[in-house]
Amino acid sequence: MRKASVVVGAQFGDEGKGKIVDVMAGGMDLIVRYQGGANAGHTIVADGVTYKLHLIPTGVVRGKRSLIGAGVVLDPAALAQELEGLAAGGKEITPAGLGIDFRTHVVLPWHAAIDVARQANKAIGTTGRGIGPAYEDAVARTGITFSDFVQASVLRERLAVIADGKQKQLQLLGGHGPDAAQVEAEFLELAARLAPFACDVSHELSVAMASGKAVLFEGAQGTHLDRNFGTYPFVTSSSTTSGGACVGAGVPPSAIGEVHGIAKAYTTRVGSGPFPTELMDATGERICEKGREYGTTTGRKRRVGWLDVPMLRRSHELNGFTHIHLTKLDVLEGLPELKIAVGYRLADGTQTDLLPATVKEMDSATPQFISVPGFEEIGEAGWKLVAQEGIAKGFAALPEKARQYVEKVEKLVGVRIASASIGPERESIIWAGK
Ligand code: IMP
Repeated sequence: MRKASVVVGAQFGDEGKGKIVDVMAGGMDLIVRYQGGANAGHTIVADGVTYKLHLIPTGVVRGKRSLIGAGVVLDPAALAQELEGLAAGGKEITPAGLGIDFRTHVVLPWHAAIDVARQANKAIGTTGRGIGPAYEDAVARTGITFSDFVQASVLRERLAVIADGKQKQLQLLGGHGPDAAQVEAEFLELAARLAPFACDVSHELSVAMASGKAVLFEGAQGTHLDRNFGTYPFVTSSSTTSGGACVGAGVPPSAIGEVHGIAKAYTTRVGSGPFPTELMDATGERICEKGREYGTTTGRKRRVGWLDVPMLRRSHELNGFTHIHLTKLDVLEGLPELKIAVGYRLADGTQTDLLPATVKEMDSATPQFISVPGFEEIGEAGWKLVAQEGIAKGFAALPEKARQYVEKVEKLVGVRIASASIGPERESIIWAGK
């Protein structure tokens, strides 16, 4: 059996996973999403065209077979829209290119309405895509699977059972959703269109790996948004760590080989929740603007802060990284000094190099920083030259202080940094050791 690779976010999502997956996809046969839904946003720039994907695995841009596993919650309207967008950009996706597991749960319009209505009351700051409510129904065994969805009679039956309760739930929350007849009509149309994509992802993967095919699992969101191990309750509702690939796609742990963690050279977070290294000053503002830190899915401005090494080490504990890819290094250019959090002082005065385990502790802990020299501003043209030189020289092509920053992070986290990216294009990734 050929072992699969997993790509996961090492921070709070938006680490630039899409780009790394896109490049790795070149050597893969199958690309698989295993958790989350249309809350994700992956931006890939290929041959000058920008693709923004939410649900469909990034591999489609490379023409690779892409699979959506049972652990995903799938919004059929969002999927249809994404397929249309790809077709408009010249990439027609057929069932040969995309498969959706029969067991994948479907996000209903009421789920999104409930998500939004709840946010009006208490602010986790979700994406409003109905992710939490859809997973609730899946766990409560009251959801609609993709297999139910594509059989018209079953879909009608399931909607008839569910609609009334959802409307009542919404009324209690002070929100409102579409009426049942409208949802039924829309869903029957979408189901007819999407039915050819239904398949058994878990079985297909088992057969593919046994015959030596290369499989890449594409994680969405980030480790510290994991439902169990993230900054609960400020998390998403799925398992975002590497283990999530096993339960979400239906493969055994022994099927996983490499685990690639993606980390920005700094940290960002969108939505509420603890963020100890957050910058509330002009430096944060500068990084935000230079890094164009606005959400792909909601357009919300991301919160920005320094790199947090205890956070990355904790990610490594949870995911077992074999490689780390450091992204958006170029965004830090021109800052005279860079800070890296290397530990915490807890409320009782004790020092630790561990990430505090609870939200309460995290809120009251003070990050302890080291300071390293910043690197000079060389601009887009300068980074393009560095990228060209990087093909032959690897990290040695980086400006000296930028290279020192990468090496420092590698040493502090204790995982090999396999690449550093210095621009949005595929070509702007420098690989170590060349
Ligand atoms: P939900 O996934 O929409 O329920 O949102 C829960 C939390 O996860 C919120 O703080 C969101 O901002 C965050 N979140 C969800 N998806 C992403 C993502 O793809 N990138 C970054 N944050 C995300």
